Amino acid sequence: MTSLLILNGPNLNLLGQREPEIYGYETLQDITRLCENKAKSSGVQIQLEQSNHEGVLVDLLQAAQHVHAGVVLNAGAYTHTSVALLDAISSVEFPVIELHLSNVFNRETFRHHSYISHAVLGVICGFGAYGYVLAIDALLRHLEGA
Ligand code: DQA
Repeated sequence: MTSLLILNGPNLNLLGQREPEIYGYETLQDITRLCENKAKSSGVQIQLEQSNHEGVLVDLLQAAQHVHAGVVLNAGAYTHTSVALLDAISSVEFPVIELHLSNVFNRETFRHHSYISHAVLGVICGFGAYGYVLAIDALLRHLEGA
């Protein structure tokens, strides 16, 4: 069965209580349930991971090679700072979708630049928790060659 990794970066463990006017009231557990329901209805397996640590995110991306067919990555603030994550994404063969709950382009200018965009299949932002469902759909369509 096709397997996808949903990888969340720093501070996303605080979803629901962290600036809810920007990131919404759904917790990471709510998002986990949303993704699991989407995976079930799409007939795929998913693994969800969250880490506040850049190197752990790199390790998880490397470990996903030959295990997962694709990754949905919300790299949080590392999006805007991490060449290491860009290099990790460039090193793996599977497609990665960059995801943000908020519309980073109508926020502070330092959020307009993403290091990881250079290496990802596409970017989804601004749709809150529903973005994860959109990203899983987009990844599966891509993997089916649609
Ligand atoms: C975020 C946007 C980033 O700029 C921010 O640092 C985050 C969350 C989002 O999901 O909207 O931590 O990736």
